[in-house]
Amino acid sequence: MTADEAVEAALGALDLETKARLLAGQDMWTLPAVPAIGLASLVMSDGPVGVRGVRWSADDPSVTLPSPTALAACWDPGLARRAGRLLAQEARRKGVHVLLAPTVNLHRSPLGGRHFEAYSEDPYLTGEIGAGYVRGVQDGGVAATVKHFVANDAETDRFTVDNTVPPRALRELYLAPFEAIVERARPWAVMAAYNQVNGVTMTEHRHLQNEVLREEWGFDGVVVSDWFAARSTAGALLGGLDVAMPGPHTVYGEALAAAVRAGDVDEERVDRAVRRVLRLAARVGALDGAAPAVPKPPEPLDGEALAREIAHRSFVLVRNTGDVLPLDPARTPRIALVGAAARAARVLGGGSAQVFPARTVSPLDGLTAALPEGTTLTYAPGADLSDEPEPAGPGFTLRAVCRDASGTVLADTPLPSGQIQWVGTDLPAGVTHEALHSVEVTGTFTPRESGDHGFGTRGLGPLTLTVAGRVLYDGVQEAGAEGDPFEAFAGAPAERGTAHLTAGRPVEVSLRHTVGHDRSAPLPAVVLSLLHRPPRRDPDALIAEAAEAARAADTAIVVVATTERVESEGFDRSDLRLPGRQDDLVRAVAAANPRTVVVVNAGAPVEMPWRDDVAAVLLTWFPGQEGGAALADVLLGAEEPGGRLPTTWPAALADAPVTAVTPVDGELRYDEGPFIGYRAWDRAGGPAPAYPFGHGLGYTTWEYESLAVTPTTARVRVRNTGTRPGREVVQLYVAPRADLVDRPARWLVGFGGAQAAPGASAEVEIRLAPRLFDLWDEDAGTWTTVPGPYEIRAGRSLADIRLAVTLELD
Ligand code: BGC
Repeated sequence: MTADEAVEAALGALDLETKARLLAGQDMWTLPAVPAIGLASLVMSDGPVGVRGVRWSADDPSVTLPSPTALAACWDPGLARRAGRLLAQEARRKGVHVLLAPTVNLHRSPLGGRHFEAYSEDPYLTGEIGAGYVRGVQDGGVAATVKHFVANDAETDRFTVDNTVPPRALRELYLAPFEAIVERARPWAVMAAYNQVNGVTMTEHRHLQNEVLREEWGFDGVVVSDWFAARSTAGALLGGLDVAMPGPHTVYGEALAAAVRAGDVDEERVDRAVRRVLRLAARVGALDGAAPAVPKPPEPLDGEALAREIAHRSFVLVRNTGDVLPLDPARTPRIALVGAAARAARVLGGGSAQVFPARTVSPLDGLTAALPEGTTLTYAPGADLSDEPEPAGPGFTLRAVCRDASGTVLADTPLPSGQIQWVGTDLPAGVTHEALHSVEVTGTFTPRESGDHGFGTRGLGPLTLTVAGRVLYDGVQEAGAEGDPFEAFAGAPAERGTAHLTAGRPVEVSLRHTVGHDRSAPLPAVVLSLLHRPPRRDPDALIAEAAEAARAADTAIVVVATTERVESEGFDRSDLRLPGRQDDLVRAVAAANPRTVVVVNAGAPVEMPWRDDVAAVLLTWFPGQEGGAALADVLLGAEEPGGRLPTTWPAALADAPVTAVTPVDGELRYDEGPFIGYRAWDRAGGPAPAYPFGHGLGYTTWEYESLAVTPTTARVRVRNTGTRPGREVVQLYVAPRADLVDRPARWLVGFGGAQAAPGASAEVEIRLAPRLFDLWDEDAGTWTTVPGPYEIRAGRSLADIRLAVTLELD
């Protein structure tokens, strides 16, 4: 029996109720099993940097790769494919069939809160990296879910915003990566976004989901809603949405069966959606009698090694004066390492992208392990990144005690941190939502420093916080009036009081919460955190201490970073500044030591007003669990920083041509049309960015020797003219005739990696897809070729073009 026959046989055996049930989540992450037809429960889980699984907890860890901006900065679809394979391996280990990734929305505004989770401002680069990633995940027999379809490029009011996108921009920019991935990598799932596009909410967008995605592009997979995005029964089904997540309360299931019985929806339409779900099940091996798409998973990969490789390949060296990097510890043996993030690195972005690494290597750990004997490494925190308490972590030993209404203990389970997120059926053994009355996060805290420690809570409802026998809070936390529903779900962090503690002396801590029984909630959940903030230190004294350490060293390395409150999900940024006093810190360290290297630990652009006053700047994104090891590799020259910017890096927010993320009267207008990112910078002709699209120095130098172009391929020969082996990312841009239509001045049409030893040359062959020269004709509603000549330019970045030839196209 072929897979198609197995799917038809299974479909034929289902009654209406079961079919309708199969299109609705049964809980937060799964679809129901139907044993009668040999269908297992399909399990979904977030990526994109790991596989969290069905539990939102640090005791269910996942390999944690660098974040998507980092993966894009590698400019290597083959590496993205290996990342995908590793994630499929993690998914299989955790019994996950469907990975909710990659995110291929675009960097339209640098303020986008989930910038770190998308690849680029350029649709071609996004599509290439996304296609590699999807291929890799599906090589492992796990479904990839390309999200969020479409134009979910910012977070503000994301559930309701109407993004007004002109047709050319929609086709040439926002749909383009989805189209390329559907064509090149055949994804098994796509996620419909929360937002509206041109007046229609995406889960009901018949034109984009049925006519464009399915009919025009031939997508044959499942369209799943973003979480809680499905709003109507008939509207969603007829609009092309197959699966409504999560459950158990959805617009499908019972409601869908009733709509069919009432004649609002044709059962045949239900069958089409069910057929697609069964096809997905067949592909991932969850339908008996259908051979899975991948009968035998590929050879296992080493997750730690791959996380480290992607990290060093992604780091972008944007400035390196006097060749301060790589460091030579024999000549400059005293190193001062500065920055709170050097000790507690931010390895991944927040929100649904959160996974829990089994370990993380901080810059301090990485350098300590890698520095040869005879070097000295001093550390100074320099500045606090945030004044807010964070979930209790190092120094705490905690348990969760679950009790019923009579006070009987139902479960007493160790907690890896102060954070509890039990959603749906994810509860400790022996506990049900019905029986659970209270949860207590309790244990001890042994402080590293003496002083006034802050303690706080996150969560809604009745909370009692006790530290060292003293009640710091006893009250009821109400939900905020507005904001993203997810924020409302978890509550905002609140500091409740301080306790004066002595280093090394343990104290008892307890956060007690009486759970709510809100029957109207879409699914039952227990979400609360015990928060902690170390004693505050005088900010000027911290900076002075760091500057002193820098002065006493041969080289100073400052790690600056953003925080969870800057880059996460459910909100956008309001500025691009580094939080806290970090800019002052860099200036003070640079003034104390001319050999100052700044390492930027951020998933998206930040302003770096001091960038011309320091010796080197290395962008390391959110580098994943092995980030500190990879950083040591790069700083000490064991590896080259291989990254190139996937997005223009503005000097100041005010210079960026497209920034708006806040809807006006519910509408966010994409009035700039097809001009975002470097396309917009070129057109605006204003101040140059800090660093252009494609920029990245590496540790060697390259000469571009020849460029030969046909309408379908380009060949570029480059020579490594430096003293170290290296990898060059050869970039191809096209510049059209300026006079015909209003088009960007130039755009990326191809790229390829060249590896060469010192003195050696290498040739890169780059395929040129015809579509890349076309324009979307808004009147005709089709792609159209604009006659040439076109100039094809090869170079190291948008601003460093080395060779150009003219291509006639007719
Ligand atoms: C996010 C999705 C994610 C889903 C499930 C949503 O809030 O937008 O990207 O896959 O939650 O966690």
